[in-house]
Amino acid sequence: AHKIIFDTDADLEKPGVDDVIALLLLLASPEIRLEAITVTFGNSTLQNTFSNVLKVYGLVQQHILEHPHDATRFPNYARPTVLAKGRAGPIAGELHIAEYFHGPDGLSDISNTHPHFGAVTTHSSLTVATTEAYKVILDILEREPPGTVTILAAGPLTNIALALREQPEIVMKARRIVAMGGALDVPGNTSPVAEFNFYADPYAAQEVIQFPQLPLFLLPLDITVPHSVDFPILIPAHHDCSPSHTPLQSFITAILTRPRNVMRMLGEDDAFQMHDPLAAWFVIQHADIQGTALVPGWKAHRRMFRLERIGELTKGMCVVDRRGTREVFHSNRAESGVEEAVALRNLAQEGEDGIMV
Ligand code: BDR
Ligand code: CA
Repeated sequence: AHKIIFDTDADLEKPGVDDVIALLLLLASPEIRLEAITVTFGNSTLQNTFSNVLKVYGLVQQHILEHPHDATRFPNYARPTVLAKGRAGPIAGELHIAEYFHGPDGLSDISNTHPHFGAVTTHSSLTVATTEAYKVILDILEREPPGTVTILAAGPLTNIALALREQPEIVMKARRIVAMGGALDVPGNTSPVAEFNFYADPYAAQEVIQFPQLPLFLLPLDITVPHSVDFPILIPAHHDCSPSHTPLQSFITAILTRPRNVMRMLGEDDAFQMHDPLAAWFVIQHADIQGTALVPGWKAHRRMFRLERIGELTKGMCVVDRRGTREVFHSNRAESGVEEAVALRNLAQEGEDGIMV
């Protein structure tokens, strides 16, 4: 199975709920082997994102205890995985933890009060690293043959940037770095122009994006938002938190209820934005595909943009040069530091042949 390092800012109540769904998907995917989970600040504090991963493991453990036949559905739960803490804030600039709308639903503290919530506990398959996340990333890449490990980055790119600063030649051994982040041709979600992961550490994002020849694949909001899944599909009406449901069903219903209520109050579509699960899905599908081929129905586009790091209103914005005068500026490229990234798009979204997630 293909080896994965999952870099995440998992949260249970804030928008990092989609990191949790991505983690469950990874735990349930035989195509990949989850070598490490490296946590970063982001949707919540580092301490929270770290203990949230332990809680998710606790929940899966509880589920398997109650439903032993389901153990095979989580092949990566029992396999050894390293869990490592990263940085508590961005490599430069101000710390920004996602603020979240506190709706009147009373579910203000799911993580501590929900009856089916996994406790923070130790797990025989999880080893908590004594070194910082970026070092764990480097150790794994150094140890494994080139082109066999994919980094799935689902939070601010802080840990990845630190690994690149320290030993870029080792990071280059990665098969791919698949990152959810940015908004190229669509509005932002944290400000009118910025996507959250890039907003939270724009300096780190810029360092990763501009790194020459890095096998970076980006899933910006342009591709993730159109893949939202209707809440009624995820939370069928009969799925309440009654004891007849498994801990996992009740948990998923509970963590999705809050974002659903927020979307309702904001007058948005009744759909869950699957940013990080989509990136995880891409990595899982891509695990067995060799060479430069992508998942059927998907295309990669090389995009050039610069990242705003300071702007009073535009911090974290991907500034795409829409003038189409690339050649004129080509000679200036080295000095101007134009960043390049490969952004993924799904042909089906554009009415071309392809598969739909
Ligand atoms: C990204 O920010 C977080 O809210 C999500 O987990 C995702 O990684 C979307 O902008
Ligand atoms: Ca995330």
